[in-house]
Amino acid sequence: MTTTASTPTAVTETRRAAGEALPWTAPGLSTEATTRLVESLQDRLGSLTDLHLTLKHVHWNVVGPTFVAVHEMLDPQVDAVRLMADDVAERIATLGGVPVGTPGALVERRGWSDYAVGRADASEHLVALDRVYEGVIGDHRAATALAGELDPVTEDLLVSQTRELEKLHWFVRAHYGV
Ligand SMILES: [Fe+2]
Repeated sequence: MTTTASTPTAVTETRRAAGEALPWTAPGLSTEATTRLVESLQDRLGSLTDLHLTLKHVHWNVVGPTFVAVHEMLDPQVDAVRLMADDVAERIATLGGVPVGTPGALVERRGWSDYAVGRADASEHLVALDRVYEGVIGDHRAATALAGELDPVTEDLLVSQTRELEKLHWFVRAHYGV
């Protein structure tokens, strides 16, 4: 008798995708509220993942007289934002959702263009990074407001992350003197 072995692809295809019915949620949360939270958190996971990858890209490509200052400022930002992405992904899992962290899913889902600056002076990168932080923080605030309606625990996570993101944004702005 011939049997068909499960391949990694087949196994992957049988796993639930984000947005499908949740097997459980945190006690006291409705399925509907949790579905909305997970959808919103998945967007935040994509943004934070994009941000920490972009920060590394800038770390590698910045040039000019302030190279060392900007290059060294960015690694702690990468670490901080990676931790935020991890916390958001684990919140999704805690709520019974499926955190999707693959590069293809990120690109398919995102609503913004890829970071466009390559090797360039620090001033050019810092202006571009200012815009990136503007977008991420604005969307984090919107997600925080939604969580405030649905789940104070998720709201608490996003409030603390927004506070930290705003501080990192200040570092970027302060480096180019605005
Ligand atoms: Fe490095």
